[in-house]
Amino acid sequence: MTLHWTRTAQDGAARRGVLHTAHGEVETPVFMPVGTAGTVKAMMADSVRATGARMVLGNTYHLMLRPGAERVARLGGLHRLMDWHGPILTDSGGYQVMSLSELRSMDEQGVTFRSHVDGSKHRLTPERSVEIQRLLGADVTMCLDECTPFPATEEQAAVSMRLSMRWAKRCRDAFVAREGHGLFGIVQGSTYPGLRAESVAALTGIGFEGYAVGGLAVGEGQAMMFGVLDCTLPLLPQDAPRYLMGVGTPSDILGAVRRGIDMFDCVIPTRSGRTGRAYTSRGVLNLRNAKHAEDPRPLDPACGCPACTRHSRAYLHHLIKAEEMLGPMLLTWHNVQYYQDLTRGLREAISAGRLDEHAAALEAAWAAGDS
Ligand code: GUN
Ligand code: ZN
Repeated sequence: MTLHWTRTAQDGAARRGVLHTAHGEVETPVFMPVGTAGTVKAMMADSVRATGARMVLGNTYHLMLRPGAERVARLGGLHRLMDWHGPILTDSGGYQVMSLSELRSMDEQGVTFRSHVDGSKHRLTPERSVEIQRLLGADVTMCLDECTPFPATEEQAAVSMRLSMRWAKRCRDAFVAREGHGLFGIVQGSTYPGLRAESVAALTGIGFEGYAVGGLAVGEGQAMMFGVLDCTLPLLPQDAPRYLMGVGTPSDILGAVRRGIDMFDCVIPTRSGRTGRAYTSRGVLNLRNAKHAEDPRPLDPACGCPACTRHSRAYLHHLIKAEEMLGPMLLTWHNVQYYQDLTRGLREAISAGRLDEHAAALEAAWAAGDS
């Protein structure tokens, strides 16, 4: 059987379920730490697993440029290369080409661009993106799409979305079905409900193992993002997993789960860890701030990670100020741990039919702050 998802509980529009993949089962709602270049930055794979994470994301764009998809395949695939033996979802490259590469040009067939690493010229088509993701060994392959920039006129958004839909069909045709592996389509259409509906109809007409909502968290703001989810999610099949790409803050994740999203990825926990920002049960803390210099308290007393159980805020502040490597390592671990604890709490609340109460408690604690 190809990759599939089974629902185990429902609370309002929120769903709990299990994603069945070639590399094991994953409970949803799930947060996938970002392992762009074959590593969740600043963490060993064992530590990532120790946080409770069961699935990570990799990037076609980065890995095709370095070390190269064929090389990864010769080295035994991405799971073996990075010592991550759980499921891996790979993004298709379209989004990263647009945000990172230079001198890109798009046509009906695909996108040509220069590498941000060494300036070399590369081409990505729907067929090549699917092939690269197969060479990497992805459990979940994403369709090549264009993440429509925000803001876009309805006309621009329609042209962009329809190209992504033609590419989605080519990805479906290029994808080789294998046990426990699947291909996800990506809904586009910017902030226009009619275009989102057209995109859902195109994708469900083709048929995918899961459906992602793309083109969000690109500057539209949380209210508009939730608005797009409110008009899009009711149109998607109930029995397939739904993935909100590149989202988000704890508050974004909470709101999206309540609307029926099952999967997330975002650089926020890892990237902010490297810059001294910590997401906690009492909101966000910036460890660079001098107010932590002599604070003996743990970062988050509710957290079981090494940063919180073995160290003080004062030590974390010192490490960040002194630019010691351990600072980003500990804060990344903590943030990834917080996101895993958050999603586990949401799963348990859905099963208990208490998501509204749980959400209110989370929001109150975030707002209360910690000192
Ligand atoms: N990551 C965040 N948003 C997007 C999107 O719209 N498309 C793809 N492929 N990746 C994303
Ligand atoms: Zn912690």
